[in-house]
Amino acid sequence: MSDFNAAAFRQHFPFFAAQPDWIYLDNAATTHKPFAVLETLDHFYRQQNSNVHRGAHKLSQMATILYEEARSCIQQYVNAAEPAEIIFTSGTTAALNQLAFGLMHTVLKPGDRILISALEHHANIVSWQLHCQRFGVILDVIPLDSQLQLDQSAFEQLLTLHPKVVSLTQVSNALGTVLPLASMLQAAKAAGAITVVDGAQGIVWDKPDLQQLAADFYCFSGHKLYGPTGIGVLYGKRALLERLTPLLGGGEMIEQVSFSHSSFNHLPARLEAGTPHIAGALGLAAAIRFISQFDVSQIKSYKRLLLKTFHDGLQHIPGIVVLSPWQDNAGIVTLNLQGEHSADVATLLNEQRIAVRAGRHCAMPLFDLMATAGAVRFAFAPYNQISEVEQCLKALTQAAEILAS
Ligand SMILES: Cc1ncc(COP(=O)(O)O)c(C=O)c1O
Repeated sequence: MSDFNAAAFRQHFPFFAAQPDWIYLDNAATTHKPFAVLETLDHFYRQQNSNVHRGAHKLSQMATILYEEARSCIQQYVNAAEPAEIIFTSGTTAALNQLAFGLMHTVLKPGDRILISALEHHANIVSWQLHCQRFGVILDVIPLDSQLQLDQSAFEQLLTLHPKVVSLTQVSNALGTVLPLASMLQAAKAAGAITVVDGAQGIVWDKPDLQQLAADFYCFSGHKLYGPTGIGVLYGKRALLERLTPLLGGGEMIEQVSFSHSSFNHLPARLEAGTPHIAGALGLAAAIRFISQFDVSQIKSYKRLLLKTFHDGLQHIPGIVVLSPWQDNAGIVTLNLQGEHSADVATLLNEQRIAVRAGRHCAMPLFDLMATAGAVRFAFAPYNQISEVEQCLKALTQAAEILAS
């Protein structure tokens, strides 16, 4: 049993009362929003709306204070050394793209290597690839072993090539695998690499301690952590953030501009060109304050209970092929019905108002390695109930019968 009160947690989310017929298991794509976040957004736009860092008036000064308080709230949650190490972006994708662009122009030279893993989301592949060819930088990939875990001896071998950057996901969005991140980052640091973590799924599974973890950069999106869409974070150690070439120019990111030359502002403004998503930042801070009321280890064990219920039920459904690991899984199960197209399974579940995702989950190279055309993903959140998992198992059983007939 778990001590976590899932029913009470669920009460915070108005979606479930508004749409009582739906079972929402697409949480790796995005999560629902608690009252605390919705009210913060509403209150900001109704009562506090103003731009930040520029107005001489009181409203703008107030908006600036709220925006900077949101930054401090996030800094404290992830235990960054100072608020200026938290750069607001539109999400993980934007953070990784800023990072790849910024490092290519300063740190990386032709012939340098970047190391990623076979479990990466496209955002942690393509953002690097976009520049590799032009800058003559080589992208290496840590392969999988027969259990679909990262091959640790191959990783050690690849580290002997002295990659300048090692960029790893914390949790595979496609399989739910939790990487042995602490040891891998330590090994990467020992090999002299700059370390990057794609925490889009990881931050939902575990509260990061960025002064403990050997991560130079950590990226995440608000919307996977009960916050709004369009807001995310690029965390970086100050000395390294200062070396990044800004991807976007304009607005408050400058110090001086002439037609021949511009100099840049201090952190964090240097990497936040244009009007930021002010309400989004406040909403993300509200999400973080909300989730901070709950015990992460209790949420983890509740998610394990959901997984176990799902696992046990799947044993009774013929033809199920599970791709995800059951150990060290952050609450994401990807599977197929033998011989059936994943989209057909998802369509039948959709008819029963069960929201799942089918396809290759923005991880095409991983699906190529698994020689699988796609799969159905069930991603659990702490507001999901055991009864929903049971209903989902029934719906899967029916889907299997329909497709077999
Ligand atoms: C592991 C991982 N990285 C990156 C992303 C991209 O996040 P966003 O679309 O919020 O920028 C996702 C989104 O699913 C993800 O799961």
